[in-house]
Amino acid sequence: MKKQISLLSLLILGTLLFTLPMSLKAQDNNGQQSADESDQKWAIALHGGAGYVSPNMPEERKAAYMAALDSALAIGVEILEQGGSSLDAVEQTVRFLEDNPLFNAGRGAVFTSEGKNELDAAIMDGSQMNAGAATGLTTVKHPISLARIIMEESRHILFAGDGAEQYADQTTVERVDPDYFKVPARYEAWKRANESQGYLESQPNNAWKMGTVGCVAVDKTGRLVAGTSTGGMTNKRYGRVGDVPIIGSGTYADEQVAVSATGWGERIMLNVSAHRLASHIRYTGASLQESMNHLVYEILNEGEAGFIAVDRQGNISMETNTGSMFRASQSEGGEKTVAIWK
Ligand code: GLY
Repeated sequence: MKKQISLLSLLILGTLLFTLPMSLKAQDNNGQQSADESDQKWAIALHGGAGYVSPNMPEERKAAYMAALDSALAIGVEILEQGGSSLDAVEQTVRFLEDNPLFNAGRGAVFTSEGKNELDAAIMDGSQMNAGAATGLTTVKHPISLARIIMEESRHILFAGDGAEQYADQTTVERVDPDYFKVPARYEAWKRANESQGYLESQPNNAWKMGTVGCVAVDKTGRLVAGTSTGGMTNKRYGRVGDVPIIGSGTYADEQVAVSATGWGERIMLNVSAHRLASHIRYTGASLQESMNHLVYEILNEGEAGFIAVDRQGNISMETNTGSMFRASQSEGGEKTVAIWK
């Protein structure tokens, strides 16, 4: 009997010694991540539009773009380094870009054919397979934040025009007079474009279709998020909706990859581009970079679009088939990139 008891004790002790380290490993750490996930690296990439910016642009202007990209990146990196969520990193990074008149989103957005600003934005959380988007906004200072609220609080995904403004009325998002978005230089450029018949169609290299800002990130828990915000394309017709708020076209995230697009919205939509990139990875087993090359250089035509993406492993890809793309990226333990041209 005594021998049986001591055998039983040994068995219990052995089981405890075997299982204790495992249960400690899986224990929740402040609700953020388990030790099993400590190998997960964070990564972030952002864009401020693809197009054909001349390498001969004035040094001062180039420095302003580089500084803005660098500051935007620092916001997202800080959040991810501190163990914050990719959702916060993406929202805060895009808000910064929306505030900066250098970019075609929020303040500094391009003008419609009626000489107004109509803003679109979307955000998608791949870990929840949930998204929020709004199109045709005229008074929401940070469209990306409204998109996040729609994702988190609404039972719908996409609100348009007056409906989107009415939805915003029920939230705490900051509102501004529509004139807030109007930047004189951008307005003058639109007026010139609007006045000279055929000007837009005759511009080389689709320059009038370019702009937009976006951010993609994976955090230390492996959560992938994509966010995009834009004023759309210069001289767009009243009510025109581009790729950005169409989930799967300009913005998409799942549990493997997060993608944000910039460029000619109609072409991006026709190719369901962001989802196409995710599907290529999923169904062919190709790497993020291989799938990006397929989309940008084989599916889309030269001069149409650029994309940024991060995958679950923390790999980053940023490619454009235009001459330039304002972009920046960083991953945990990796190099920082801030660039405009190839
Ligand atoms: N890619 C932005 C737009 O076409 O609206």
